[in-house]
Amino acid sequence: MSSKILVLPGDGIGVEVADQAIRVIDKLNTLGLDATYEKDLVGGASYDANGEPLTSAVLEKAKQSDAILLGAVGGSQWDNVERSKRPEAGLLGLRKELELFANLRPALVFEALASASTLKDEVVSNLDIMIVRELTGGVYFGQPRGIEDTAEGKKAIDTQVYYDYEIDRIARVAFDLARKRNNKVTSVEKANVMETGVLWRQVVKETHEDFSDVQLENMLADNCAMQLVRNPKQFDVIVTDNLFGDLLSDCAAMLTGSLGMLPSASLGAENNGKRHGLFEPVHGSAPDIAGQDKANPIATILSLSMMLKYNLNQSELSDKVENAVQKVLSEGFRTGDIYTDENQTLVSCSKMGDLIIERI
Ligand code: IPM
Ligand code: MN
Repeated sequence: MSSKILVLPGDGIGVEVADQAIRVIDKLNTLGLDATYEKDLVGGASYDANGEPLTSAVLEKAKQSDAILLGAVGGSQWDNVERSKRPEAGLLGLRKELELFANLRPALVFEALASASTLKDEVVSNLDIMIVRELTGGVYFGQPRGIEDTAEGKKAIDTQVYYDYEIDRIARVAFDLARKRNNKVTSVEKANVMETGVLWRQVVKETHEDFSDVQLENMLADNCAMQLVRNPKQFDVIVTDNLFGDLLSDCAAMLTGSLGMLPSASLGAENNGKRHGLFEPVHGSAPDIAGQDKANPIATILSLSMMLKYNLNQSELSDKVENAVQKVLSEGFRTGDIYTDENQTLVSCSKMGDLIIERI
């Protein structure tokens, strides 16, 4: 039976990078993939067309699809729109409604790109970290929240909330992944100041009893930020909450030289052998270069590759895509964000798509 992919390009460069990933799907369909896809709107594009960043019709399509490929959302033209209608609310709505609690963000240094990092070669070469970020809880969704007038002035409230089951299920994802990698999990919180940190550490310890073959280390979030820059190769899998995961994954991403290279997967709970999955590049909508055919499509193409591996059970095709990306890079082709010297060939977004497709 063919797989149904919902493509939500979103805003800014999301549109052009998603187009390249669609062309890769077309190519893979000639190699046995058997996937159909449909495009729809999310984020600012959906707000402009429908007054909502995520319509119920698109949410329904997302629920019915086997996997979702998303480009990027956001742009300064929606800065003054009320929070619940902003582009980001479309993405947060998808995460929450599909219960995509596990966000996998690999930070992988491609050999051909080690010199694109701002850190020394020896610090980052062969780096391979997986950040597992809790995605549907914590301060992103905790109640109460809001801004109110009080006798002492305006008061803003955000609330960090975690239930034990939310910590347990994300810890399981991390331990499972570690078993397929280098068998080490670093669990990151602020148990020294936060109640959620205390519970986090306690639950991870209990969950670890089912994974005693995996090495577990606890680390405070501020220390983790420092260690990521000082000696990132000490990490294998990092598991952390929604907000710390947001920060630490950007930090880890930049160790690799370019946000334009990094994919992500957001996975839901398993239900009858199936789980919802949303796959998107870690980079944003980059309005400054949008529509100029300059963006790097690799993060989105690698997100498609994660989809093949994690959701569509197509590991071989996933490897083919990754190898094609490696090959294009080792042959010296670069989009503007990763172009560093004149021995390389500067190419456009669509040309990068052509080159990858030719090599799959
Ligand atoms: C991310 C983004 C989102 C987040 C924004 C766009 C809501 O920064 O996916 O990391 O904060 O989670
Ligand atoms: Mn972020």
